[in-house]
Order: sequence, then C-alpha cells, then structure tokens
Amino acid sequence: MSIHLTRQHEFAVITLDRQEALNALSAAVLRELAQVFDQVAASDARALIITGAGPKAFCAGADIKELSGRSLTEQRRDVAFGQAVLARLDTLPMASVAAINGYAFGGGLELALACTFRIAVPTAKMGLPEIKLGLIPGYGGTQRLPRAVGEARALEMILSGRTVEAEEALRIGLVHRIADGDPVQAAIGFARGFSGFGLPALRLARDAVKRALDFSLHEGLNIEADLNTLASQTQDAEEGMSAFMQKRKPRFKDR
Ligand code: CAA
Repeated sequence: MSIHLTRQHEFAVITLDRQEALNALSAAVLRELAQVFDQVAASDARALIITGAGPKAFCAGADIKELSGRSLTEQRRDVAFGQAVLARLDTLPMASVAAINGYAFGGGLELALACTFRIAVPTAKMGLPEIKLGLIPGYGGTQRLPRAVGEARALEMILSGRTVEAEEALRIGLVHRIADGDPVQAAIGFARGFSGFGLPALRLARDAVKRALDFSLHEGLNIEADLNTLASQTQDAEEGMSAFMQKRKPRFKDR
C-alpha cells in the first residue's frame, strides 16, 4: 500500500508513501486514494490532513514513467479519472488541509490545490513544471491555480514551470500558512480553528464559497440565500442560537 490512513485525535491523516518516486501519483496510487477518500467520508473525522512520507516530498506529481506512449483515448480516460479523484475532496463532509512537507510539483501541487487549505514547511518547493515535459497540467492545475493566485500569476507559473518557494507561496496566496515545526501538527492546529463547529454548516459554507467561483454574483447570491436557509433549518443552528441567548457554549451534534 502506498497510502496510509491514520487517525490523530479527531482528524484523519492520509500519508502518500511511495518515497522511491517522491510519492508520485501512479495510476495505482490514484485508485488507492479514491478508496481511502471513501473511507474518510464514512468516518467521523472532523477534518482531513494530507501529507507525504519522508523528508523530501509531499508529492512530485503524476508518475512520469507511466505517462508516455498512451493513446489519446487512454490519456483522456486517465486524466479524467485523476481529476475526479481530486474533485472528491470537495464532496467530503469535512474540510481538508494539505500539509506540504517538501516538493509539491505537477499533480502533487494539484492535489494540494484540491484541498480546502494548504500549509507548507519553510523549505517546501512548489510548481507546475509540466511545460518542461511538453505537457500542460491535467489534474486541475489550470483551473484551481488561477482561482488561488489570480490569472497572471497562474499563467506565469504554468508557462515558465518555475519553482515557487514557501515564502512567495504565502505572499501570493498559494498556501495559507507556513508551518512552524511538524507540518501535520501545524495542520491539526490550524484545523482546530474550525473543526469544533457543526459539520453541516461547515459543509454549506464551503459549498457556497466554492460555487461562488463558478457563477455570476447574482446567481452566487441566490446560492448563498438557499444554503443560508438550509443551514438555518439544522438542529445545530437552533442549538447555536439558543446557546448564545443562554450565554453558554453550544453543543453541536452535526445535525
Ligand atoms: N514520476 C515518477 N518518478 C519520479 C517523479 C515523478 N513525477 N519525480 C521524481 N521521481 C523519481 C525519480 O525518477 C527518481 O527515481 P530513480 O532514483 O529511480 O531515478 C526519484 O524519484 C528521486 O528523484 P530525483 O533523483 O529526481 O530527486 P531530486 O531531489 O534530484 O529532484 C525533483 C526532485 C525536482 C522533484 C525531481 O524529481 C523532478 O523534477 N521530478 C518531476 C517533477 C515533475 O515534473 N512533476 C510533474 C509530473 S507530470 C504531472 O503531474 C501531470 C499532471 O498534471 C497530472
């Protein structure tokens, strides 16, 4: 198995562990990842942390040794599968945090971009170097990177394939935080900032923001009104507002 699913406190932790290939995403690893995401979805974890094993890499991207010699049909099928696996992160009941512990290139950075949040160690190096292979990103990089850092910065990274260091990544919004110490512990500390709230409201808020990026402001406001109305009907909303009025801490039950 190249993927380990463990539990740290109330959090699920996925570790990519294929260190001989810098945790590259082979087809087999992607299939394993899909199964593990299903396990996480069915668990009671409050958030998911994703990291890479070993001192060097979060993930060095798609497995380049598997990429050449594919027919158009095979390539289209495989890239669509990779996209679908990463998109599953959006439909998990809980938010996800990429704990970027080293290199995050190509599909590795795309995996991090598909997470809700990204935290990187100060020595992390990130980029979409596909252009150097005569390729372009295929697991969502051309779509999610501009949403994170803006069109010009995304195009610069994609067209030049250049490596971005952690400090710059923080400045341009590619990562949210630099980890002080162990990246998984930093991600857990970060996730504690929201993991005590009710999962239904957390999920609806994630949906509203994600969907805002696909629609006009007018349609987005309609979506927000719908999801706000849904949230207001949950038991957690009733509990949260009662607790406020009774001047006590709310006890959310994810209902
Ligand atoms: N696929 C397969 N194997 C990989 C790999 C990858 N993406 N990245 C690294 N490896 C392997 C290397 O081939 C090497 O194996 P061998 O010892 O058997 O030769 C091992 O991992 C260690 O790598 P290096 O010796 O190259 O380590 P380094 O520290 O000198 O360099 C690196 C690290 C800069 C990350 C370099 O390995 C590298 O540039 N890797 C490729 C990064 C890349 O181009 N990623 C994009 C892939 S395409 C993609 O992801 C498409 C998409 O959008 C889905």
